[in-house]
Amino acid sequence: MDGGVGLTALLVAAARAIETHRHDSLARDVHAEHFVRAAPASADWPVRIGQVPEGDANPLWGRFARYFGLRTRVLDDFVLGSVHDGARQVVLLGAGLDTRAFRLDLPSDCVVFEIDRAGVLAFKQQVLTDLSAAPRAKRVPVPVDLRADWVTALTSAGFDPAAPSVWLAEGLLFYLPGPAETYLIDTVDRLTTGGSALAFEAKLEKDLLAYRDSAIYTATREQIGIDLLDLFDLGPRPDSAGHLRAKGWSTSMHTPFDFTRRHGRGPLPEPNDALEGNRWVFAHKPGP
Ligand SMILES: C[S@@+](CC[C@H](N)C(=O)[O-])C[C@H]1O[C@@H](n2cnc3c(N)ncnc32)[C@H](O)[C@@H]1O
Repeated sequence: MDGGVGLTALLVAAARAIETHRHDSLARDVHAEHFVRAAPASADWPVRIGQVPEGDANPLWGRFARYFGLRTRVLDDFVLGSVHDGARQVVLLGAGLDTRAFRLDLPSDCVVFEIDRAGVLAFKQQVLTDLSAAPRAKRVPVPVDLRADWVTALTSAGFDPAAPSVWLAEGLLFYLPGPAETYLIDTVDRLTTGGSALAFEAKLEKDLLAYRDSAIYTATREQIGIDLLDLFDLGPRPDSAGHLRAKGWSTSMHTPFDFTRRHGRGPLPEPNDALEGNRWVFAHKPGP
C-alpha cells in the first residue's frame, strides 16, 4: 500500500466498514472490511464499532470514522445527482479504496476512472479479484502520481473531455503541495465541458499543527501509528474554490456539520477540533 499516504486509504476503508455495520448507517460498503483484513498493516483494526472497547467514545473509531461515513454519503449523493444530470464519466482523484463503481446505482454506460498510485490500485485489484467483485459500471484504474503528468494517463485510458463528467477529490488535496493542487484544479477545468461537476474537500486552517493535540489526531497517531500531520502538506493552500469561480464555475461550500444536521447523525463541533476547518466544496461548470 506504499506506506504513509496509502495507509490513509485503509483508514477510510475501516471507517466505511464500521459505518456499514451501524444500524443507522449513512453509507454501505460491503467491500471495505475485506481491504482492511487483507493488508497486514490494518488486519487487526476494528471493522465494527462493537469491536472497540469504548465504542463511540473512541475519537478515532467513533467520531472520526463517522465523519468518513458522512463524507462518503454526501459525495455518493453528489455523484448520483451529477449522473442524473447527464454525466457519464466519473473521475475519482486519489481514489484509494473507493468502491463507488461497485456500490452506486450507476447506468451501465457510465465509466468510472480511478486515479491513484500504482501500489494502492494493485492492492485494491487483488482484493476485488479475490472477492470476484463485479462493478456496476465500466471501471478503469489509472495508476499515476497526481504530482506528475496525469492528463496523458487519463486521456489514454479513454476519458473524453468533450463529454460531461463528475470529479471527486475526497480526502486528497491536503496531501498535495499547493502548486500540484492548483495544477489539478486548472486541469479539471481544462478537461471538462459545460455541465460537469467537481466536489472536493479542503482544510481552511492556517496552522494545521495547532491541532496536533486534538482528540482525532492524537488517537490516530497513538492507536494506529498514522501521524496525519506528517502526511499533510503543510505549505500555504491555494483558494481553489475562488480559482474555479474566476473561471466561471459556480461553487458552494459547506461544513461537514451542515450535513450532520441534515442527516440527523454525524460529527458535531467540539473544542480543539481537527475537523473545524474542513470544508466540502461543490462546483458546477455552467452548461452551454
Ligand atoms: C485519505 S485517502 C482517500 C481515498 C479515497 N478518496 C477515499 O476517500 O476513500 C487519500 C488517497 O489519495 C492518494 N494520493 C495521495 N497523494 C497522491 C498522489 N500524489 N498521487 C496519487 N494519489 C495520491 C493516496 O494514495 C490515497 O489513496
